[in-house]
Amino acid sequence: MTGTPRIRVLYDEQIIAKRIEELAQEIVRSKPENLLVVAVLKGSFMFAADLIRALHRVGLEPQVEFVHLSSYRDGTVSSGQVAILRDVESDVRGRDVLLVDDILESGRTVTFAKDLLMARGAKRVSTAVLLEKPGKRAVNIDADFVGFTCPDLFVVGYGMDVAHSYRQLPFVGVVDHANQSPDLFDKK
Ligand code: IMP
Ligand code: MG
Repeated sequence: MTGTPRIRVLYDEQIIAKRIEELAQEIVRSKPENLLVVAVLKGSFMFAADLIRALHRVGLEPQVEFVHLSSYRDGTVSSGQVAILRDVESDVRGRDVLLVDDILESGRTVTFAKDLLMARGAKRVSTAVLLEKPGKRAVNIDADFVGFTCPDLFVVGYGMDVAHSYRQLPFVGVVDHANQSPDLFDKK
């Protein structure tokens, strides 16, 4: 990487914070019982941290778990295979589960996780994603709770990365391609 890349802000801190409070209201209206939140690592960690505190503010008392999934990617393009790098520890049988992920793109990651938890006997698995990119789905799935419908750009920040960089940004943005090493970006 040469120089300091510029990041164009798509969703700033205030907009994200406001939308997360609204999502928590939507989630509480779905009347979850015995709720287990399962955050999909790594990209969702910041969203999940803010969302579970918003769930607390609307009166929910979820248990919180993590699953680390990897959708093998070639640069910024999904390969279609999903692997479990770290599994949940809880027994999900009979429970309402809220899966939390950063982005719904091809839909493979969320579908994989949802199928896994249903196969283990969860009563209901709903999904909350910060962003969804429409028109990119390889699998027919919609999230129950969506923060923002996002343009078809590779986004970073607020937990999301390119090669482990930019996760610390408190906003969601797009890296300005002009200063970037080309192998970090699409080989489409
Ligand atoms: P899907 O399985 O194609 O729906 O991809 C979802 C996963 O790919 C997300 O959980 C992200 O980790 C990653 N991903 C997809 N698009 C982006 C992006 O624009 N920036 C960063 N990560 C992304
Ligand atoms: Mg992810």
